[in-house]
Amino acid sequence: MFSRVNSVGLFGLNAFHVTAEASVSTGTPSFDIVGMPDIAVQESKARIRSVFGQLGMKLPVGRITVNLAPAGVRKVGSVFDLAIIIALMKAGGLIEADTDGCAFIGELSLNGELAPVNGALSMTLNAARDGIKRVFLPKRNAREASVADGIEVYGAEHISQILTFLKGGSGLSPEPKYIPDPAASLFTEDFSEVMGQFAAKKAIETAAAGFHNILMLGPPGSGKSMLAKRIPSILPKITFDESIETTQIYSVAGMTDPSAPLVTSRPFRSVSHTASGVGLVGGGSIPKPGEISLAHNGVLFLDELPEFDRRVLETLRQPLENGEITISRASGSVNYPCNIMLVAAMNPCPCGNFGSGKKCTCTPIKVSQYLGKISQPVLDRIDIQVEVKAVEYSDLSERTPQESSAAIAERVQKARDIQAKRFAGTGIKCNSGITPDIIAEVCRMTDSAQQMLKDAFGKLGLTARAYDRILKVARTCADLDGSEEIQRQHISQAIGFRSLDRKYWNR
Ligand SMILES: Nc1ncnc2c1ncn2[C@@H]1O[C@H](COP(=O)(O)OP(=O)(O)OP(=O)(O)O)[C@@H](O)[C@H]1O
Ligand SMILES: [Mg+2]
Ligand SMILES: [Zn+2]
Repeated sequence: MFSRVNSVGLFGLNAFHVTAEASVSTGTPSFDIVGMPDIAVQESKARIRSVFGQLGMKLPVGRITVNLAPAGVRKVGSVFDLAIIIALMKAGGLIEADTDGCAFIGELSLNGELAPVNGALSMTLNAARDGIKRVFLPKRNAREASVADGIEVYGAEHISQILTFLKGGSGLSPEPKYIPDPAASLFTEDFSEVMGQFAAKKAIETAAAGFHNILMLGPPGSGKSMLAKRIPSILPKITFDESIETTQIYSVAGMTDPSAPLVTSRPFRSVSHTASGVGLVGGGSIPKPGEISLAHNGVLFLDELPEFDRRVLETLRQPLENGEITISRASGSVNYPCNIMLVAAMNPCPCGNFGSGKKCTCTPIKVSQYLGKISQPVLDRIDIQVEVKAVEYSDLSERTPQESSAAIAERVQKARDIQAKRFAGTGIKCNSGITPDIIAEVCRMTDSAQQMLKDAFGKLGLTARAYDRILKVARTCADLDGSEEIQRQHISQAIGFRSLDRKYWNR
């Protein structure tokens, strides 16, 4: 007696088709699971025995073998419980049902309840791509999975519901397609609440428009954290595809909300300086996404940058460069996307007042040690740097209404539309992603802009790397201005966004 049932496995974000094959033959009673199962899959046997008992059924008598195919791929976790038990029941003749075109995903508890699994959306999307028409999974995963097109999702709380349905087609109905509430993606914090700080706001708008990384440097209480938190409110609305991408990362991490499972606004992940390397970029024996991937399509905020462990910051270099992080394990390597806008904030020195006009109580050595905690390669990946000055009393006391996030977002969106046209078909999304091979073509300057950049080069001793970055940022300044060519004032703005290098780091 033999049967075959579809399921789906997951490694990182990569879902793959798995077939649970069960055979029952005469011989000394035994129960084996083969096909590179890990320990959690092996423990499936105990759960399955218990569920058979709870349902008042007998495990088929004889030699039971379950093979999880393809045998060459490691199977991790308890998600195959449901497929294995259905395959066994079919092989033992306990149920007769046509399960072709169906996939089964879920962990069983000892009494037959289905426990939710991580990565339900990735698995369901994969099942749909493989031509599966119906997926059965834990009820708590159903709403998330319903977002996948071309597949019916049946969520069940208990295995008995699935058995009843398979026998007679009643008791379960397909999960209605989840449509997120648009109100859920509204931001509660708005730039209109931030008084003054025009230079910082302009820098932030430019960073948002070109998806450039940004560093804000200033004394305590100047509003750096306040400004950072409001950045998602001026970024273009998250698209449906981006929402699905980001949701899959949250799902694999087990961080989706079953009642509102889609990530419907750009993430803002604020990371504490006590974060470990694994916490930041991901890892672990079954590699989980880190904060940088949880921020995918949004903002990763590193507050108090010099307080971070230097080695931890260095781990950001490769993912910032590639928009993707690869975690290698003996069992294979996992890729998590991390297309993010890095926003960092810091004080200029331990007391916070260096360069601010107020008295700094730190020795020069202390100041340079503090600034030196941020390595050059990390600084090099931050296109825009801005000094945030202490708020003027007059700005605070007047409390005049400031420009709203919506008004800024409109300009950002216009600049993004220009970029979308420019980069159509290239795989590049924004000016921050301009590659050296096209920089000359897409960053054309007027003669006088060119002269200005040349002069700045001589006078300020800019490096070749700084040259490219200034051009990319100038491109964004020109886009915000609706100017096809980069003009003098755009070069001047872009150079201004790098002046901290010279003022604080002596470069
Ligand atoms: N421009 C501003 N307009 C209105 N309120 C402000 C402004 N700047 C600061 N504040 C007020 O001061 C508080 C402190 O600001 P915030 O925490 O953002 O400062 P910070 O620069 O991050 O300081 P630290 O370096 O100590 O982290 C804010 O919560 C806000 O109430
Ligand atoms: Mg702060
Ligand atoms: Zn100081």
